[in-house]
Amino acid sequence: MHLLIPAAGSGRRMGSDRNKLLLPVQGKSIFAWTLLAVEAAKTIEWIGVVGQPHDFEDFRAIVAELALTKPVVFIPGGKTRQESVYEGLKALPEVASHVLIHDGARCLATADLLDRCTASLETVDGMIAAISVKDTIKVVDSDLMIQDTPDRSNLWAAQTPQGFRVDLLKQCHAEAVLKGWEVTDDAALFEKCGLPVKIVPGEETNLKVTTPVDMTIAAFILGDRSALL
Ligand code: CTP
Ligand code: MG
Repeated sequence: MHLLIPAAGSGRRMGSDRNKLLLPVQGKSIFAWTLLAVEAAKTIEWIGVVGQPHDFEDFRAIVAELALTKPVVFIPGGKTRQESVYEGLKALPEVASHVLIHDGARCLATADLLDRCTASLETVDGMIAAISVKDTIKVVDSDLMIQDTPDRSNLWAAQTPQGFRVDLLKQCHAEAVLKGWEVTDDAALFEKCGLPVKIVPGEETNLKVTTPVDMTIAAFILGDRSALL
């Protein structure tokens, strides 16, 4: 399986002066933890890192230090995650029939989750890891007045990995450019094109490191795991 890591963000909500993926947690960068999970996943054979060229030197040093056995290719990203993924798709080798996309910021995903996502693509053309929501979700208007309370049993929180047939996802991205669609994950593009997307049970610990409190939680979970080894 070929895997793309969107890593071209700036980490605005983290309030950091550089890409949050370079911030340390439990002795390694967020980016390093993500790469270690990908390296440990039996089904992943090729890694495409989509980043901003000014981060490539730091990224290369991290890859070298981890002494990964899998090929790693660096691909210049875009202004939005959506653009970055499209750049990554265009850079995939021709042999790649399917792709997993996994955010660099989800450094707690396990190798087992990545392998389960790969396996699911044997039977579906589009999948995402997701977990059922624990909170009751409110739909509100611009005055913060509640408009609706959807039935929680139908609500799932999207994670990555997200996986697709490459030809179909490329078509969806091309259509999005033509029609000006802006979305926050690739499943949304598949959905907009009328294509089916299946949920694979994700992991409660698979959070996206987004704000400073997520660094504290990630450090705790990683520390807990190393204590079990
Ligand atoms: N990403 C990307 N290209 C962009 C923006 C984001 O590849 N132009 C990546 C990020 O590096 C991250 C993933 O998409 O691994 C999820 O994005 P997010 O958590 O929003 O990260 P940032 O965009 O860096 O953070 P923020 O939105 O707070 O600035
Ligand atoms: Mg962002």
